[in-house]
Amino acid sequence: MLEQFKKIKSSALSAIHLVKNLADLEVLENKLLGRKNGELTGLLKGLKDLSSEEKRIVGQAANDVKQAIESAWAEKKLELSRVEWVKSSEKESVDVTQSALPLSKCGHFHPITLVKNKLEDLFISMGFMVLDGPELESDYYNFTAVNIPANHPARDMQDTFYIKKHPNWLLRTQTSSVQVRAMQKYEAPMRAIVPGRCFRNESTDARHEHTLYQIEGVVIDHGINFSNMKAVLEEVVKNLYGAETKLRLRPKYYPFVEPGVNGEITCVLCAGKGCRVCKQSGWLEIFGAGLIHPNVLKEGGIDSKKYQGFAFGFGLDRLVMLKYGIDEIRVLKSGEMKFLEQF
Ligand code: PHE
Repeated sequence: MLEQFKKIKSSALSAIHLVKNLADLEVLENKLLGRKNGELTGLLKGLKDLSSEEKRIVGQAANDVKQAIESAWAEKKLELSRVEWVKSSEKESVDVTQSALPLSKCGHFHPITLVKNKLEDLFISMGFMVLDGPELESDYYNFTAVNIPANHPARDMQDTFYIKKHPNWLLRTQTSSVQVRAMQKYEAPMRAIVPGRCFRNESTDARHEHTLYQIEGVVIDHGINFSNMKAVLEEVVKNLYGAETKLRLRPKYYPFVEPGVNGEITCVLCAGKGCRVCKQSGWLEIFGAGLIHPNVLKEGGIDSKKYQGFAFGFGLDRLVMLKYGIDEIRVLKSGEMKFLEQF
């Protein structure tokens, strides 16, 4: 039996040595080590008929033979796999002279991004920083810090989405949530705008969305007054809608400014004559603004005796709709190609 093992070993090793491809190696593996008819397997089965003394000697030899065959086989498999991989990758080739396929379609910015970029450029040219703030905001920064304490009726105007189990966290209703954050971080004097997404729990229609964009502005310096605010805002609307556009400010209550106003421009669709969009008034509301309330400055760590400021908040979606004559706010975030391809 020892002789037989020796013979199998030498014939197996030389057969493995001669194999030229993986398919033949697999056939050989079956022939030698196959469970049913493998030569070595058959011989190993015979071990059980030997006496225990013979088993010890022959068993040891059989094991050595098996291991030698298996390791030669594994080595060969690795070698052949490498060879076949190199061969197959040589077949793939790149024709560098082939001309490129024409681009069928090219992407572009969303209209909201177009208007946002234009406004950012304008504000940067006026010395403003462009800041960011979290969309998942604390109750404190969204409401309390901007002079809307718990139970204040102004909270009813901006219902939103709260986080279950974390009642102090909500989706921000306004970019005004970044006012106090910015004051705490940059102190006075400061000029900053904050473009960003806000959320409101309201049913949608052609003019209202649960997800909307705003651009907040904050200016704090010595001796800031109402005329400074009006001059900046006038510059913005003229830049966006043309030099002939007129701006009017009318009193409006916002808890974080005093006095507060809403800003209206002459209707860009009928040039102030009166139409369906401006409800025959000739004017369109596009922002809220005012001089920053001393409580808010205080919350931001700024001494309201030394510094004054103004803040404003544009509805970015509204600006986009007016700029491009869009009468349905919901198409802006619909992802509809028919709409988007027009820009
Ligand atoms: N945050 C206000 C809103 O969402 C707009 C605003 C900003 C008003 C800044 C005044 C000053 O309606």
